[in-house]
Amino acid sequence: MIAKEIAETIVDPKAYAAFQPIEDAFRALRADSPLDVAEVEGFDPFWVVTRQADIREVELKNELFHNGDRSTVLTTIEADRKVRAMMGGSPHLVRSLVQMDNPDHANYRRLTQGYFAPQNLRPLEDRVREIARGFVDRMAAHGDRCDFAKDVAFLYPLHVIMEVLGVPEADEPRMLKLTQELFGSADPELNRSQGQVGDTDQALANIQGTVADFIAYFNEMTEDRRRNPRGDLASIIANGQIEGQPLGHLEAMSYYIIAATAGHDTTSSTTAGALWALAENPAQFKKVKEDPSLIKGLIEESIRWETPVKHFMRTATEDTELAGKKIAKGDWLFLSYPSGNRDEAVFDNPYDFDVTRTPNKHVAFGYGAHVCLGQHLGRMEMRVLWEELLPRLESVEMDGPGRRMEASFVCGPKSVPIRFKMH
Ligand code: HEM
Repeated sequence: MIAKEIAETIVDPKAYAAFQPIEDAFRALRADSPLDVAEVEGFDPFWVVTRQADIREVELKNELFHNGDRSTVLTTIEADRKVRAMMGGSPHLVRSLVQMDNPDHANYRRLTQGYFAPQNLRPLEDRVREIARGFVDRMAAHGDRCDFAKDVAFLYPLHVIMEVLGVPEADEPRMLKLTQELFGSADPELNRSQGQVGDTDQALANIQGTVADFIAYFNEMTEDRRRNPRGDLASIIANGQIEGQPLGHLEAMSYYIIAATAGHDTTSSTTAGALWALAENPAQFKKVKEDPSLIKGLIEESIRWETPVKHFMRTATEDTELAGKKIAKGDWLFLSYPSGNRDEAVFDNPYDFDVTRTPNKHVAFGYGAHVCLGQHLGRMEMRVLWEELLPRLESVEMDGPGRRMEASFVCGPKSVPIRFKMH
C-alpha cells in the first residue's frame, strides 16, 4: 500500500497548486512503489499507475480497462453516490467520448475525427495566425508588463476553439467562466461559490449548475444549426448521425461541453507554463529565439513540462495482471500523466526544461483509443503563437511569483506576471 502521506498528497488540489509536492510524491512512487494501491479516507481504494510503460499498457488495452464503468476522474465515495442518484445509476454527469467505451466510443469519435485531422486543420492556419497576431499586438500594447496567463494564454486558445465550434465572440467570457468553474471547482478563486469550497452537496450543486448553463446554451445552438447548418463543429454535432440516428441529447451536449472546455483550457495552461519556464530559463529562451526550428521542441517540452491533464481513471473489466500485480475486476486505476512525463526510464534529466529534448515521448495527450482528439489543433495553435511572438519578444523575466490552480484533474498556471521587452 502507498504511504498515507503520499496518497493524501496526490488527491490534494493544493499540492498541484504548489507543484513541488506532486513532483516529489510521484518521484518517490516511481522509485519505491510504481504500481500500488492508495487508500485515502473518503475515497474507494485505487491503484496509482506512475510509470509511463504501465500507463501506455493500460491505455492500449481499452477493452480490459474501461473508461465508462466508474467515474473517469477521481471522486469521493459520497460524491459518487450522489451523482449516481441524480443520473439514474450512471457515475457520470456528462457522457462525452471520455466516458464512453466501444462501440459508442468508436462511433462518436468517428463523427469528428476527420475534422481534427492535420490535413483538415491546414486551411484554418491562416485564420489562427491572424488571431495570434492580434494577441501579440495586444501584449505589446501592455507596455513592458502583463499577466501572460490572464492577458494572452487564457484568451487565445479560447478564441480559436470558439471560432471552430461556432460560438460568437461576445459569448467567450461566459464560456471561459463556465470552464474555469468546472475545472476549478476545488479552487476558491475560480469555483461557482466564489470564495469558498463547500461540502459535497455544494460542490455538486455548483458543477450541476455549470453543466446546466452549458446545456441551456448548446440547446439553443443545436436548434439554430439544425435550421441553418454551417461549416462549424456545432453543425456537425447538431446534424450528426450515429448508425442512422441523431446523437443522444446528453451525448450531443457533452460533445459540445468537452470541446468548449478541454479545447482551450489545456492549451492555455501549456502556453502559460511555457512562458513561465522560458522566463525562468534565459538560456532556453535564447536558444529557441535564435533558432526557430526549435519551436517544435519548445512545444513538445512545454506539453511534457506542464502536463495539464493530471489524471484519468480506468476500471478493470476482468481479473488481470499489470506489472506483476494482480488487479481484480472492478478495480479503479489512476493514470498519472505528470508522473509518466517525469519517468526516469524514458527521459534523461526529467526535471530539466529542455527545448532541445529529442526524442520527447511524453504521454500528456494520453495514448491509444482515447488519445487526445484535439492534439493537432493544440500543437498548431501553439506553433503559430510562438512563430508570431518569439521574433518580437526581446527579453522576458518573471515579475513576481507565478500561481497555479488548486485542482487535481485539469489545471495549470492561473497567473504568470512577466516583465518584457517587445518590438
Ligand atoms: C482527450 C490532453 C487539447 C479535445 C484528452 C486526453 C488527454 C488530453 C490527456 C485523454 C487521453 C486518453 O484518455 O488517453 C490534452 C492536452 C491538450 C489538449 C495536453 C493541449 C495541450 C485539446 C484540444 C481539444 C481537445 C485543443 C479540442 C477539441 C479532446 C477530446 C478528448 C481529449 C474530445 C477525448 C478523446 C477520447 O476520449 O476519445 N486530451 N488535450 N483536447 N481531448 Fe485533449
